Amino acid sequence: MQDWIPLGYLLSAALFIFGLKKLGHPRTAPLGNQYGALGMLVAVITTIIDMQLASGDMNWTLIIAGLALGSLIGIIMAVRVEMTGMPELVALFNGFGGAASALVALSETWGYIQNSTTAPTDELTIAVIMIAAGLSALVGWMTLTGSILAMFKLKGGISVFGKWIKTPTWGPTWLNPVKILLTLSVFVLIGMSINDPGNENYLWGIIAISCILGLVLVLPIGGADMPVVVSLLNSLSGIAAAFTGFIIGNSVLIVAGSLVGASGLILTFIMCKAMNRTLPDVLFKSFGGTVSKDTVTRTKVGSDADEVAMMVDGAQKVIIVPGYGMAVSQCQHQVKEFGDLLEEKFGTEVKYAIHPVAGRMPGHMNVLLAEANVPYEQLIEMDEINPEFPDCDVAVVIGANDTTNPAARSGEGPLAGMPIIDADAARTVVIIKRSLSVGYAGVDNDLFYMDKTMMLFGDGKAMMTGLNNAIKEI
Ligand code: TAP
Repeated sequence: MQDWIPLGYLLSAALFIFGLKKLGHPRTAPLGNQYGALGMLVAVITTIIDMQLASGDMNWTLIIAGLALGSLIGIIMAVRVEMTGMPELVALFNGFGGAASALVALSETWGYIQNSTTAPTDELTIAVIMIAAGLSALVGWMTLTGSILAMFKLKGGISVFGKWIKTPTWGPTWLNPVKILLTLSVFVLIGMSINDPGNENYLWGIIAISCILGLVLVLPIGGADMPVVVSLLNSLSGIAAAFTGFIIGNSVLIVAGSLVGASGLILTFIMCKAMNRTLPDVLFKSFGGTVSKDTVTRTKVGSDADEVAMMVDGAQKVIIVPGYGMAVSQCQHQVKEFGDLLEEKFGTEVKYAIHPVAGRMPGHMNVLLAEANVPYEQLIEMDEINPEFPDCDVAVVIGANDTTNPAARSGEGPLAGMPIIDADAARTVVIIKRSLSVGYAGVDNDLFYMDKTMMLFGDGKAMMTGLNNAIKEI
């Protein structure tokens, strides 16, 4: 039986890798998710069998109760979460992942330290264990406190500390001496623990400082950059798991942890690139907010649904540009109905332009539109759709702002250099949002004020419903 254990771990690692590959495309992503979940089930069952074979004395009640409780909480959270609440849920899961890894590493190291008969005696082994335990504690506990704070910041704070948590109060700069001092002290404590491995106080010190470090790192980061930070924390939770895998000698934990660490880091850099920001900028400089709602002084007369319906009547090609406002108003079904009406009633060619960072999480628009059954063939990535705008009669922008802002083409401001959807190249532009206010980066948008632009002011769902009704009456 023991011979089957490595095979079980190999199977689960393979399922994780195939799952990741499938997650690369919206069409295959649900299957990728199922592969990942199956891989985790295989890993859990293999670990339980491995433990039973090794000790022969398992507390089955505790294990079954833990599995049942964990599954129940997971199901309830997954069923109840709103699409707009996904980044918070991911942040919380990252935190728990980091803490779980750090706790396993702590319990193993603790056992080693306390048990003088099994404790290793050669210096190299002791050094490796203490370094891995220290790093696992640093990354794991930092991920826990950082992720929980990130979750509250994404949620908009908690009642008592809301304002304090939401508002960066003290200047973040990479020179911030507190962060440097805390990080250095963790490394000093790891060094001291190698010389005196029987002294558990070093471990407690590392845990305490790592918890504070997680808070100090995330606290000054503006809510705007939180999705990137969540992705980075996701990567850190994987790295913590890989360190723990080394401590307990579990190969699947090393493989799975490395996969999470690497994919989280790749995603972090993809997001930074699409936002035209560097990782140090995200972590140590505040972003956006240069223009507040009150300082937008230009005006624009709004249009109404009938006017827009008459205009799209004659259009041969319409490109829909969704953004964060579509997610907020949850109007993806009305957007799909709009596209269908245009195709069926007027024979219009309809496509959707997808910016890589439209919304607040990677793939946000793809997930929402897929939920509304928009065919994948109609979802066109930015680089592919941009050359089509000069031939497009109407670009309908629904709750998108920064991702269409021509200011990004200039060399200045927070959006400078960010690739955008070329909606302004279409013959006519219709923009649906509640006001002329700025988007995520806090930059006023010239697109709203162009002569060819019609503004439909109002909530996305209400406006799309009105527009669809107006089209039906033509
Ligand atoms: P944003 O620039 O965030 O603008 C969204 C617009 O939606 C707002 O200007 C808002 O205007 C409008 N809106 C809000 N609620 C609405 C509602 N109920 N109905 C209609 N409109 C509503 O959106 P975007 O173009 O999608 O750009 C995304 C931004 O997020 C980028 O700057 C990107 O860098 C950043 N970001 C994205 C990610 C990922 S991975 N997607 C991660 C981090 C940061 P009103 O208030 O006037 O309605």
